[in-house]
Amino acid sequence: MIVINPNNNSLTFGTIVVVDDMLLEGLDDNSTLIGRSQGLGATVGRDGSLESMINFVFTEGKYNGSTLAIYGRVVLGVTIERPVIGGTGMFRMATGYSVATPVVVSASKLVYEFDVYVWHKEMKDN
Ligand SMILES: *[C@@H]1O[C@H](CO)[C@@H](O)[C@H](O)[C@H]1NC(C)=O
Ligand SMILES: *[C@@H]1O[C@H](CO)[C@@H](O)[C@H](O)[C@H]1NC(C)=O
Ligand SMILES: *[C@@H]1O[C@H](CO)[C@@H](O)[C@H](O)[C@H]1NC(C)=O
Repeated sequence: MIVINPNNNSLTFGTIVVVDDMLLEGLDDNSTLIGRSQGLGATVGRDGSLESMINFVFTEGKYNGSTLAIYGRVVLGVTIERPVIGGTGMFRMATGYSVATPVVVSASKLVYEFDVYVWHKEMKDN
C-alpha cells in the first residue's frame, strides 16, 4: 500500500502538518485507490523527527468503511516503523505494526510503501 504526499516540507521544531493522501493498492500510479491516509503530525524532536497519528480510511472491498489507526515517531526519508494502535469496523481490536519505506522522494511527490501486520477481530457491524 502506498501513500502519496505532494508536499515538500522542510520542517522546523514545533511545525504541525496535516495529511490527506491517496492510499493505493500497489506502487503503480494507476493502481486501485483503496482509501485515504488522513492524519496529523508535529515536529517534536529538535532532530526534525515527528510524532504522527494517522488513520487509514478504507473505501474499497470488504474493508470499505473500516479504519486502521497508526501512531508513532517519524524520521522523514528513511524506513518508519510504527505501532498499529487500533481500528474500527472490520479492524476492531487491531494491534500490530506498520513499516513504511520511501520509494519515491522528489520535489513534487513522496511515495511510501506500507507493510502493515495486524491482528484484529474480524467482524461486521452490529
Ligand atoms: C497509467 O495509465 C496511463 C493511461 O493509460 C498510461 O499512459 C501510464 O503509462 C500508466 N502509468 C503507469 C505507471 O503504468
Ligand atoms: C463503500 O461504502 C459506502 C458507504 O456504505 C458506499 O456508499 C460505497 O458505494 C462503497 N464503495 C464501494 C466501492 O463499495
Ligand atoms: C524540497 O525543497 C528544497 C528547496 O526547494 C529542495 O532543496 C529539496 O531538494 C526538496 N526536497 C525534496 C525531497 O525534493
